[in-house]
Amino acid sequence: MMVQVQLHCLCLFTLYLTTGYGQEGRFSGPLKPMTFSIFEGQEESQIIFQFKSSPPAVTFKLSGETDGIFHIQDGLLYHSRALDRETRAVHKLQVSALDAYGATVEGPVPITIEVKDINDNRPVFLQSKYEGSVRQNSRPGKPFMYVNATDLDDPATPNGQLIYQIVIQLPKINNVMYFQINNKTGAISLTSEGSQELDPIKNPSYNLVVSVKDMGGQNENSFSDSTSVDITVKENIWKAPEPVEIVENSTNPHPIKITQVRWNEPGAQYSLVEKEKLPRFPFSIDQEGDIYVNQPLDREEKDSYVFYAVAKDELGKPLAFPLQIHVKVNDINDNPPTCPSTVTIFEVQENEKIGSNIGTLVAHDMDEANTINSVLEYRIVDQTPKSPREGLFLVQAYTGVFQLALYSLKKQDTPQYQLTVEVSDKDFKTLCHVQINVIDINDQIPIFEKSDYGNLTLAEDTVVGSIILVIQATDADEPFTGSSKILYRITQGDSEGRLGIDTDPQTNTGYVMIKKPLDFETAAIHNIVFQAENPEPLVPGVEYNASSFATFNLFVTDVNEAPRFSQQVFQAKVSEDVAIGTKVGNVTAKDPEGLDISYSLRGDMRGWLKIDPVTGEIFSVAPLDREAESLYRVQVVATEVGGSSLSSIASFHLTLTDVNDNPPRLVKEYTGLLFCYPLREAGSLIFEATDDDQQSLQGPHFTFSLGSESLQNDWEVSKINGTHARLSTKHTGFEERVYNIPILINDGGQPPLEGTVSLPVTFCTCVKGSCFQPTDHHPGMPTVGMAVGILLTTFLVIGMILAVVFIQMKNKGRDNVENAQASEVKPLRN
Ligand SMILES: *[C@@H]1O[C@H](CO)[C@@H](O)[C@H](O)[C@H]1NC(C)=O
Ligand SMILES: *[C@@H]1O[C@H](CO)[C@@H](O)[C@H](O)[C@H]1NC(C)=O
Ligand SMILES: *[C@@H]1O[C@H](CO)[C@@H](O)[C@H](O)[C@H]1NC(C)=O
Ligand SMILES: *[C@@H]1O[C@H](CO)[C@@H](O)[C@H](O)[C@H]1NC(C)=O
Ligand SMILES: *[C@@H]1O[C@H](CO)[C@@H](O)[C@H](O)[C@H]1NC(C)=O
Ligand SMILES: *[C@@H]1O[C@H](CO)[C@@H](O)[C@H](O)[C@H]1NC(C)=O
Ligand SMILES: *[C@@H]1O[C@H](CO)[C@@H](O)[C@H](O)[C@H]1NC(C)=O
Repeated sequence: MMVQVQLHCLCLFTLYLTTGYGQEGRFSGPLKPMTFSIFEGQEESQIIFQFKSSPPAVTFKLSGETDGIFHIQDGLLYHSRALDRETRAVHKLQVSALDAYGATVEGPVPITIEVKDINDNRPVFLQSKYEGSVRQNSRPGKPFMYVNATDLDDPATPNGQLIYQIVIQLPKINNVMYFQINNKTGAISLTSEGSQELDPIKNPSYNLVVSVKDMGGQNENSFSDSTSVDITVKENIWKAPEPVEIVENSTNPHPIKITQVRWNEPGAQYSLVEKEKLPRFPFSIDQEGDIYVNQPLDREEKDSYVFYAVAKDELGKPLAFPLQIHVKVNDINDNPPTCPSTVTIFEVQENEKIGSNIGTLVAHDMDEANTINSVLEYRIVDQTPKSPREGLFLVQAYTGVFQLALYSLKKQDTPQYQLTVEVSDKDFKTLCHVQINVIDINDQIPIFEKSDYGNLTLAEDTVVGSIILVIQATDADEPFTGSSKILYRITQGDSEGRLGIDTDPQTNTGYVMIKKPLDFETAAIHNIVFQAENPEPLVPGVEYNASSFATFNLFVTDVNEAPRFSQQVFQAKVSEDVAIGTKVGNVTAKDPEGLDISYSLRGDMRGWLKIDPVTGEIFSVAPLDREAESLYRVQVVATEVGGSSLSSIASFHLTLTDVNDNPPRLVKEYTGLLFCYPLREAGSLIFEATDDDQQSLQGPHFTFSLGSESLQNDWEVSKINGTHARLSTKHTGFEERVYNIPILINDGGQPPLEGTVSLPVTFCTCVKGSCFQPTDHHPGMPTVGMAVGILLTTFLVIGMILAVVFIQMKNKGRDNVENAQASEVKPLRN
């Protein structure tokens, strides 16, 4: 059991003793192990506990770390001076109980006194002055020195908890703190501003005043101390070296040291990192930080490199930011000039003037542009052929521009020159080949082989397409170009274009042929002039002269020709009701030779027409009928009178227009119209009319009526539509016979025509919907013939047949109604 006792004076204790004496409690009790906590620095002479003796014990003895402070008397444990935790934080005491003879009867029993701390000690810096140094650009927050203070008070209590703080930084520019301190550990490091801005050249040393406070710096009663810290800023040697320049294609043994980097302290691990991924990376670094190029470089492959140098600690953690290394590769003249192509081709026109630019040869040099290594010089070293002489061309030394040097060239003399050109840079020479083609110009005119192609006589019926003449001109310009190709034209004597000329592109031979029929009657003589031309224009100063023209006479002879109709089909239109002898049309033909013409008709199948043999007029000779032939076609023949009696044929088409000359009629002969007798109820039937005249698109519009007024009590006609009407009975009392009903049908035409038709309607006794005639033995009635045969055989059978007939007759009324559907009779059923 833990008992805490805190007594402030004996008076209190006396009070307690008087009240609590004899009882076991917080302040008294039997001997047993106990622990007491007592603040240090308390007033002296305080009673801690009273041990009660029990016989045979009469007194107690104290031993252990009493330090002369703790005493026991009459069982009362007390200390006689103030305690000091910093001297001894825990006192381990032993108490024994003794009997009257001084012999130990109980114990020793451990009694522990813990001295509790009070803030009775100031923090103190271990040094009154600190000195340290820091590299420029050190990582922010990385400690480079420590300050350290101690406080004797219990570090487990706020009394011993210390907080560090920078109070002053000198110099302090723009109120920026370059240094910071860890308030628990006293570690001093750079702020990020300090990392960036500290510069030993500007200011190599700083002074800080650092304070330390106990009580966690929170209590205003805390103690504090301060110290001075002098800091020297040292240069950072981890810096990117100057850009390196390496001459390409070096023949020195590799690797070659080109630059170096150094970390501020020894022992860093160095490496290189590529900035861009290269097919080969020709640099390396050793553990001293020296950087090498491992092989010769080629500026023409890559003219600069950028990469990083990295320093790491032994754990592989970067010590600082990587440094960028720049390497520039310097040019040497290690590339010869190159020609733009195996052969460079220029073209020169024949009439090109001296000094004209022919073309430019642009050779290339891979070495660095705009340096002496890539400046090229051109020189012609050979010309083939050397005719008419050498030195026809010159080249400008530094531009490669070629010019005509001496005089204009003639393709006929030399069509092509080969030049060898030396192109040189500082150290190299390259030969390039230039070919110069001399191009023809149109400076030659076509010249006819002869100026007159003579006379030719042709019959006027010479077949179109016949070749009648071959002409030829020649041109001395370069073959198969627009300068030498020849186009022939007829400039006189053929204004109708009856002739044409085809040219053979290989030989320039012209074939004159007939394009349209010749005609003696319009043009018997053609005085023709041919011209030969080039499609390309001639160069200035050259013109076509008389040698480019040729003449030709064509005589056309007459041939007797058949008459010609003015058109192949003649058309005319008349009304079908024209009177006989009316002129319905005319045709005309002419004979090229001017002979008289006699007209006749052919194919007048209906004998409707005749033609006046002299005038060509056509007349009707019979009534015309559109309903028979709406378009009447005949042939007309024109025959020369005299001569060879040649003739021609044309067509004459006569269109007949309609007149209303046909009355309406029934569409067919109605024979099977019947009603079964006796009529049981009123019935009706439908009939249709038609008209042979031309009808409008909507069809005919007939009107129907009964032909006789006396029938109006028995029959009625009603129109269904333009063509159909219904005939109905008005009662059932008709006789068993045939009635012929006259019907009037009007076509409503211009003028209207009316036709009277007769509809035969039969009333008869019906058997299965058709008329049954018992008295009239029909040879085709098999039932009757069979009945007679059977009658002769047996009376019994006769009786049965009579019975059958009787039953049939009884049923006839019903059959009549049903079978009427199958005939054209439609019984009315209301
Ligand atoms: C501070 O000094 C104390 C006592 O000398 C020592 O125990 C402690 O390790 C020191 N602290 C630092 C950070 O140097
Ligand atoms: C000590 O520093 C820490 C972090 O650096 C901070 O959170 C704390 O408030 C500081 N204590 C005092 C008393 O300044
Ligand atoms: C190096 O130079 C020599 C001549 O100096 C040349 O023949 C060679 O092609 C060059 N190498 C490269 C890679 O340019
Ligand atoms: C061609 O005809 C003309 C006129 O008819 C005539 O003068 C000329 O002599 C003829 N030429 C030849 C070569 O027959
Ligand atoms: C036409 O010119 C050519 C040369 O271009 C010449 O040979 C010819 O004689 C000339 N013809 C005439 C008729 O002048
Ligand atoms: C018919 O003769 C007349 C004069 O009589 C004429 O004007 C008309 O062109 C001729 N018609 C035809 C088709 O020949
Ligand atoms: C007229 O009526 C008859 C009978 O109803 C019918 O068959 C026919 O198609 C009709 N004709 C027209 C043009 O409607």
